[in-house]
Amino acid sequence: MQIFREKDPLIQAIQKIKSEGKSVGLVPTMGALHEGHLSLVSNALQDSDQVVVSIFVNPTQFNNQEDLEKYPRNLEKDLELLQSELNDIWVFAPTAQDLYGNKILSENFDFEGLESVMEGKYRNGHFDGVGTVVKRLFEIITPDKAYFGEKDFQQLQIVRKLTEKTGLPVEIVGCPILREESGLARSSRNERLSSQNRQKAAFIYETLQDVKTLFGTKSAEYIHEWVNDRFKDHPTLELEYFEIADSSTLKKIEKKEKGNNYRAFIAVYAEEIRLIDNIALDN
Ligand code: PAJ
Repeated sequence: MQIFREKDPLIQAIQKIKSEGKSVGLVPTMGALHEGHLSLVSNALQDSDQVVVSIFVNPTQFNNQEDLEKYPRNLEKDLELLQSELNDIWVFAPTAQDLYGNKILSENFDFEGLESVMEGKYRNGHFDGVGTVVKRLFEIITPDKAYFGEKDFQQLQIVRKLTEKTGLPVEIVGCPILREESGLARSSRNERLSSQNRQKAAFIYETLQDVKTLFGTKSAEYIHEWVNDRFKDHPTLELEYFEIADSSTLKKIEKKEKGNNYRAFIAVYAEEIRLIDNIALDN
C-alpha cells in the first residue's frame, strides 16, 4: 500500500503506470471505511491493474456544519483496513488546500433536474459539492473506471451525468448495497447510532422490502400513504421523505408504465442522525 498526501506525486506515479499500459480504477470515499466501501474496492481490484482509494471528507458537500464536524474520521483505522487487502492499493488522502487551493467553493452544475429532487431538495448545494470534488478527483487521477455504490443511487446517476456532460473518459461502475445483518444499509453514520437505535433502524429496510411487495399490486399513491402511516407512530424514527421514482430520470412516478424501471428512496432521522436507503422495485 502507498499513501499519497499530495496530488503531485500521485499524478507522476499514475503517468508512469499508464505509460506502461496499465489501467487505473478509482474508489472515491470520505473514509470511516466499512464493508460497503471494501466491496467497491474488491470490484475495482477485479478489473483494474492499479486501484486508487481516495479518502477525503469533502467540506463543500455538507449543507450542515454540525454534520461535517461530526463526520467520523479515522485515517489510521482506514489504512489498517486497506492494508489487510493483499493487493497493492494506492491511497490518496489530500488536504482541502491541496484539492481546492485557497478557495473551498463548489462549482455550479446543471445535472438536468437529477440534482433538484430527494437528496438535492433536502440538502441544498449537496450535489454541486459532490460534482466539484468528483470532477477534481477524475482530473487528478484520470481513472479508466470509477466505482460508486447504489447506496447513494442519486449520487451514482449524477456522477454518470457529470461524465456525460464533461466528456471525461471514465466508465462509471455501480455496485450493489451492502447491508448489516439486520438489513440496515452499511454507512459510516451508523457508527454514531446507539446500539439500540442501530437495531431499530432495521425498520427502514423492512419497510422498503414491503414496498417492493406492495408495488406488484398497489398504486404508488397507496404505498406513499402506507409508508407515511407506518412512520407516524414510530417512537424513534422520523421520516424525511419517501419517493418512488424512475430509476434513470429520478422523476417521481406518476403512473406505473411497462418497460420503465422504478426505485423507492427513503431518508429517515434516527435522533439527529440521517440515514438513507433505496430499493429496486422491478427485479
Ligand atoms: P462515502 O459516503 O464515503 O461513500 C463512498 C462510496 O461508498 C459511495 O460510492 C457510496 O455509495 C459507497 N457506499 C457507502 N455505503 C455503501 C454500502 N452500504 N454498500 C455499497 N456501497 C456503499 O459517497 C461519498 O462518500 C462521497 O459523496 C464521495 C463520492 C466520496 C464524494 O465526496
